[in-house]
Amino acid sequence: MCTAAGQDLVVIGGGPGGYVAAIRAAQLGLKTMCVEKRGTLGGTCLNVGCIPSKALLHSSHLFEEANHTFKTHGINLTGVSIDLDQMMRKKAQSVTGLTRGVEGLFKMNGVSYAKGMGKILGPNKVEVTGPDGAKQVIDTKNVLIATGSEVTPLPTVPIDEQTIVSSTGALALSKVPKKMIVIGGGYIGLEMGSVWSRLGTEVTVVEFLDRIVPAMDKEVGQQFHRILKKQKLNFKLSTKVVGATKTPTGVRLMVEPAAGGAQETMDADVVLVAIGRRPYTAGLGLENVGLSVDKRGCVDIDNGFKTSAPGVYAIGDVVRGPMLAHKAEDEGIVAAEIIAGKSGHINYDAIPGVVYTHPEVAMVGKTEEQLVGTEYNKGTFPFMANSRARTNDALGDYAQGMVKILSDKKTDKLLGMHIIGPGAGEMIAEGVLAMETGATTRDIAKTCHAHPTLSEAFREAAMAAHDKPIHFK
Ligand code: FAD
Ligand code: NAI
Repeated sequence: MCTAAGQDLVVIGGGPGGYVAAIRAAQLGLKTMCVEKRGTLGGTCLNVGCIPSKALLHSSHLFEEANHTFKTHGINLTGVSIDLDQMMRKKAQSVTGLTRGVEGLFKMNGVSYAKGMGKILGPNKVEVTGPDGAKQVIDTKNVLIATGSEVTPLPTVPIDEQTIVSSTGALALSKVPKKMIVIGGGYIGLEMGSVWSRLGTEVTVVEFLDRIVPAMDKEVGQQFHRILKKQKLNFKLSTKVVGATKTPTGVRLMVEPAAGGAQETMDADVVLVAIGRRPYTAGLGLENVGLSVDKRGCVDIDNGFKTSAPGVYAIGDVVRGPMLAHKAEDEGIVAAEIIAGKSGHINYDAIPGVVYTHPEVAMVGKTEEQLVGTEYNKGTFPFMANSRARTNDALGDYAQGMVKILSDKKTDKLLGMHIIGPGAGEMIAEGVLAMETGATTRDIAKTCHAHPTLSEAFREAAMAAHDKPIHFK
């Protein structure tokens, strides 16, 4: 065992929370080390989350377009087929390029990178066990816990990453399954379900509740559900899985109504368990500084990301709040600034969420259900009335989407925004900016938007919130 020179900050975990915090801390002059056990930087997001899933979503969407949409534009292709190995190689290239890029950013900013398992040994001491088992102890003024999350297991359906997979296995299947059952109609279930459905798999989503993505604005969620059904995804809502057995060709699930009732069986080649993620703190040594986790497994923090142990902070998926990469990044920046003696703040009401299906669904702020009892205006504008959406998409899929703005009746400021439609994930940034800067729907309506663009639908929804849109009644 050797002892490394003292640090101002040791960040444990090199995901979007940890790596961004480490870079910001180094920019602010703190001597910073980031400890990561995975072997590559970027955490869940870059390695087995956001990036590989978006790579497969994009590739499978191109396949879908080539098969179904191109001909409506007068482009006739024959013999369109999938080379799954190449699709996976393309995904791997994106991941490797980006994870190496983070390593490059560490070098440029002077962050030391310790490969290995980090464990808090006591106040101001972190032990790093390298891949070869060698241990070193780091003295540090501050520790930032950014250890992220892991898949929530479903005890009756144990994951083997072969036939019963988590998102990680679903991102790396070696062949296109004939039938897939997805347990959980949330972000992962719908994104990965869409990928495999587009590539030819018959996908059935089994959801415990009576609606998909339960936290989503109900009206938008219902539209989303209808569109996905049209895309041939099957849904079994209000259903619970009570058991699973392996069969020669895959898995047989036993399911029953969530409220209780007759059991039935469902067969599939592959089952994806996507019922949520839980904070990850295994082997971290929290007990050595008197810390424990709450009943959801989260490390408890105050508004400045401080735990109850002096000099120990925590951010990202391992603490309360949405498990999203950009939330972790923002917390990383603010935590680093606080540790460096500055002040910082995050507006948790203005953190967007995006489901990267086709069409995308994006949201920020309050849903209509959350505004019951509040005086609010509602402005909607359908993409059916947006010239760019109609021009781009001859099949009319886009025509089913809309932009919905919810604004305070008294102040006219945005309380929430919900989009289902093309480019929703990009357009939501306008709503987030409006919320952060306190813009009113009148301000947005007065802001010139280029024509013909999808973002004109945002402006028209803002017009509809306090008056009337031009291109729709
Ligand atoms: P993580 O990214 O989980 O990073 C934590 C890191 O800490 C890990 O690399 C882990 O190996 C390391 N670690 C843990 N313990 C130790 C230890 N003791 N010592 C050393 N290292 C340790 N979010 C989005 O915003 N957009 C998306 O499109 C999106 N898509 C997703 C798709 C999938 C399939 C999944 C699973 C997640 C997705 N997410 C997405 C969520 C996103 O990945 C997480 O919110 C984000 O990665 C959280 O960042 P983090 O830094 O808190 O934790
Ligand atoms: P999720 O929380 O989004 O969805 C889980 C779904 O499973 C919910 O609808 C829930 O009601 C349902 N469920 C729970 N227990 C169940 C059971 N026993 N049987 C059937 N259904 C059950 O979780 P998911 O999809 O696993 O993703 C985890 C997290 O990762 C997300 O919440 C999100 O924070 C993040 N993520 C973000 C993405 C993005 O930003 N585009 C993409 C993928 C993941």
